[in-house]
Amino acid sequence: MSPNFQLPEGFLWGASTAAHQIEGMNVNSDFWAYEHSGMLPERFMETSGDACDSYHRWPEDMDLLAGLGFTDYRFSIEWARIEPVPGQFSNAEIAHYRRMVEGAVERGLRPMLTLHHFTCPRWFDEQGGWESDDAVELFARFVEAAAPIFETNVDHICTINEPNMVAGFATLRKAVLQGGDGSGMDDRRPDEATTASLIKAHQGAVDVIKRLAPQIQVGWSVAIANYWVVDGGEQKAVDIASRSRDVFVRAAEGNDWIGVQAYTRVFVGPDGPLPVPENARKTLTGWEYYPPALGESIRSVAHLVPETPIIVTENGIAESDDAVRVAYTSGALAGLRDAAAEGIDVRGYFHWSALDNYEWGSYVPTFGLIAVDRKTFERTPKPSAAWLGAAGRSRSIALSAESAN
Ligand code: BGC
Repeated sequence: MSPNFQLPEGFLWGASTAAHQIEGMNVNSDFWAYEHSGMLPERFMETSGDACDSYHRWPEDMDLLAGLGFTDYRFSIEWARIEPVPGQFSNAEIAHYRRMVEGAVERGLRPMLTLHHFTCPRWFDEQGGWESDDAVELFARFVEAAAPIFETNVDHICTINEPNMVAGFATLRKAVLQGGDGSGMDDRRPDEATTASLIKAHQGAVDVIKRLAPQIQVGWSVAIANYWVVDGGEQKAVDIASRSRDVFVRAAEGNDWIGVQAYTRVFVGPDGPLPVPENARKTLTGWEYYPPALGESIRSVAHLVPETPIIVTENGIAESDDAVRVAYTSGALAGLRDAAAEGIDVRGYFHWSALDNYEWGSYVPTFGLIAVDRKTFERTPKPSAAWLGAAGRSRSIALSAESAN
């Protein structure tokens, strides 16, 4: 196999971000409230604060990404800003995100919009979040109100980012509210009521978008874990995969695309997921360094929904040594290339993340292609950004030797 990856015709080539992680001062969101509640487990130590100040500095972010050569940019709009109190929509915030869409297009970046990336308005959470009776209608109402942002110039929309993590977070929260520390094996098992509601909310959002802007390709992005069975954990792995992954993947069947988000693998024994092995090479999030995760995740999804095109909407590594980021990403892209060569319909790759950002409780795990000074917000692209971005123009990328696995 050649050490290069030739981007297929029309292949999306970008980086991803999420509003809460980069914008800063997202004060009306549920996660801001959690950050300041003092009730969260110890690992949620840092607050998001100003984040990367991308709420104001998005033109600079887009200038950099376009200048590096990327052709696509995935970012999210923030429901908590657009509808800070129930039913009151901010025209100014809608205009803000519309300017972002137009700003991307002006720079030659095709925007992929995420409508929900983990955060909700605080009021939505306080009235029961995804488990409340009217959650599905409220989300559809928000999507409809936000339509001026995306009705034109947007080709791809991701309705909800990692619904399986959102449903897992609902369980974790219940465990913490009941006095636990959230570290138990089952504390991240997706909450069933939340799962059902998110699937309906996704379908409702697809309907709204197809009614208002039928040209947009709509899907959602699922965190795809690959389960490696250890010591007779077969049945457990099947159970976990079915409620934590497969139900969310199957919900995208018939959509224009499904987003694959992959970082590492998970070992499962008869009692459930196992900690990362002691001797494994680890990243700054404590996850195992495992570049083949991407190719394996693409194959798992293609097996479940063979007719649904795949877009990799997140893949990356929390790492301070940027050369390791290049090696990891090379390995991941080799997996993507091989899966595509087998005939799987993969239509794009978005790296997580454009910027070093707020990693849900901490700024320590740096996933960015671009470093951000925490005081001045000065952006400094890393060598990985130049390496990856350039492929957007040349339509070919040299993969590093270490990726040969
Ligand atoms: C999420 C991102 C997150 C990343 C790394 C994904 O679960 O969509 O918001 O920062 O993985 O943890």
